[in-house]
Amino acid sequence: MGRIFSGIQPTGNFHLGNYLGAIRNWVRMQDSYENFICIVDLHAMTTRPTPQTLQTHIKEAAATLLASGIDPEKTDLFIQSAVPAHCELAWILSCLTSLGWLNRMTQFKEKAGKQREQANLGLYSYPVLQAADILIYKATHVPVGEDQKQHLELVRDIAGTFNRQYEVDYFEFPEPIILKTAARIMSLRDGSSKMSKSDPSDYSRIHLMDDPETITLKIRKAKTDPEPIAGNPKAMENRPEALNLLGIYAALSDQSLEEVCLAFEGSTFAPFKEKLTAQIIMVIEPIRQRMISFLKDPEILENILKKGSEKARDLASQNLSEIQNIIGFLKT
Ligand code: AMP
Ligand code: TRP
Repeated sequence: MGRIFSGIQPTGNFHLGNYLGAIRNWVRMQDSYENFICIVDLHAMTTRPTPQTLQTHIKEAAATLLASGIDPEKTDLFIQSAVPAHCELAWILSCLTSLGWLNRMTQFKEKAGKQREQANLGLYSYPVLQAADILIYKATHVPVGEDQKQHLELVRDIAGTFNRQYEVDYFEFPEPIILKTAARIMSLRDGSSKMSKSDPSDYSRIHLMDDPETITLKIRKAKTDPEPIAGNPKAMENRPEALNLLGIYAALSDQSLEEVCLAFEGSTFAPFKEKLTAQIIMVIEPIRQRMISFLKDPEILENILKKGSEKARDLASQNLSEIQNIIGFLKT
């Protein structure tokens, strides 16, 4: 059985894209692997949240994951900062990572934008901490969205450098799992940009905490076109907003885009939107209800995270100790 590691930043505003692109896949893989899912609060610090915001978002992230079906009996759910070995290994790995590699990271370039000189060091070394997250557990598989592919390649490069530098076979190369079903969900206002928590318009995304009325309104206002739905996706290539809504329906109902196009062929968007709204509510509303009850009872949540962190700490410190021996640290 392989070991899965994945992480999610507690930055609030979890939406349908996070659910269909990441969380749902973790839930579905729980029976096939040993699972570690980490709320990466250290990574979230790169956005410099206030203490209050950080804490609220960490709890929200835990509630979201549990409400979506992460089962603490099958998955070790924990908080990154509760396991100091992540930072310790990150330093070690940073000494094995060349600037040239980091300079190629497109996520840094995007996030730093034109203000590169003002970007913080944490944002720059973000992928090294991500490598430490994965390698400290010697994870074999890392399920992530398409956008994390480059970071995963870097993790493999860093693991290889460590093995070569110390002439060991210590780290395996973790395999990214980029599932085809990991739907890329686009904005409801603009079919060419990703549904994102940082979009200023609330109408661009469905939050997992949206109530049925809000969902109904957002889908009613979602951009489409006056043409009827075609019988296959190829015929709709220049209609990104229309395709996105069909794609959301397909992902939520576990069908292919082809099947959904065929089923709604000839229909206009008004009746389709009604079906889509019902489908979204059917999936999201039970998650929202469970989130509300988790957030009402923080003790349950905290106990799950505490247990998870203890287990993660045990494994991580054992591996860190092996790594320290390989490196030649003198243990005193
Ligand atoms: P982020 O919200 O960017 O921190 O992403 C958290 C996780 O959700 C990552 O694994 C992303 O790949 C995934 N994700 C974020 N936005 C989308 C989207 N619009 N469609 C599909 N997956 C997404
Ligand atoms: N960088 C990932 C994201 O933005 C989050 C993350 C941090 C992660 N550490 C990880 C994902 C380790 C997978 C494995 O989505």
